[in-house]
Amino acid sequence: MEQKLNSLLDQARGQLDRITKGGAPGEVQKQLEDFRIRYLGRKGEFSTIMQQLGTIPVEERPRVGQLANTVKAEIEKCFEDQKKALVGTAGVNGAGFVDLSLPGRVQECGRLHPVTQIMTEVCGIFEALGFSVAEGPDVEHDYYNFEALNIPAHHPARDMHDTFYVSESILLRTHTSPMQARIMEDQQPPLRVIAPGKVYRCDSDITHTPMFHQVEGFLVDTKVSFADLKGILTVFTQKMFDTNLALRFRPSFFPFTEPSAEVDIACVICGGSGCRVCKQTGWLEILGAGMIDPEVFKMVGYDPERYSGFAFGLGIERIAMLKYGINDIRLYYENDLRFLSQF
Ligand code: PHE
Repeated sequence: MEQKLNSLLDQARGQLDRITKGGAPGEVQKQLEDFRIRYLGRKGEFSTIMQQLGTIPVEERPRVGQLANTVKAEIEKCFEDQKKALVGTAGVNGAGFVDLSLPGRVQECGRLHPVTQIMTEVCGIFEALGFSVAEGPDVEHDYYNFEALNIPAHHPARDMHDTFYVSESILLRTHTSPMQARIMEDQQPPLRVIAPGKVYRCDSDITHTPMFHQVEGFLVDTKVSFADLKGILTVFTQKMFDTNLALRFRPSFFPFTEPSAEVDIACVICGGSGCRVCKQTGWLEILGAGMIDPEVFKMVGYDPERYSGFAFGLGIERIAMLKYGINDIRLYYENDLRFLSQF
């Protein structure tokens, strides 16, 4: 065994000497790595010899063991020396050893926020139905946010909105409905418009953030009926949630629509049988809607005898929560990449 160890050392030295510079790029590295595996690797020649240590007489073992340690250290030293000599200058432009086995540096790519993704999807569905897209200011006049929508000063409906005021007559819009008044004031029917954007309410818990997104939609023409509203919203929910979801219109109240409804879809989690997400009701509320109130038409100068229309407003965060099964709305705005990179 001593003889084997000694000749292994000779053999290893000889092979190291034969590794020289030149040849294809990376050739030296490859030869060095082959050497390391062959002599020093876990299944290499040195290990193979060492496995026989148990077969020699006990009294000889310490001596042979010591020799083995010396031989191994010597091979390692020769290997490191040769590596330094060869690769120290064989790296890229003499920049030193390049370890080609290291993983590359990944260039991380940004992505669209889940709310932006849903917003784009919602707008895409309505654009395909012939709606055009309009945007308006986040900082809004009291007039458009309330007055023009049949919510005069001191009207109790103002309490529903938890408004952030900038001054007495200027505020952060509490919904996208002011865009109804702005567009109708400016254009004549027929109209088919959606208005996506940010809205603000002084409210914060697991289902409310002080800023969130809505998409307003409205259509004005002669002879528009509630059936048209139902049709459009049915197509929308089917496209958005990819199934033949049941819809439910619940009577409700908004000062700017009459009649008004809150619209529910059959729970996307349990399919309507009742679960925690839908609070055992089988239904999830996704939007508010109704036929535009004649008072609103009068305010913008449309003849309510001639025109009729519907409007709806949907909450984007809410739709994204339902679609992705997210139970805390605040996750969207904590900027935690572990959360955001899932979408
Ligand atoms: N603007 C209402 C809200 O934010 C939603 C709505 C829009 C209701 C259009 C009816 C018609 O709650």
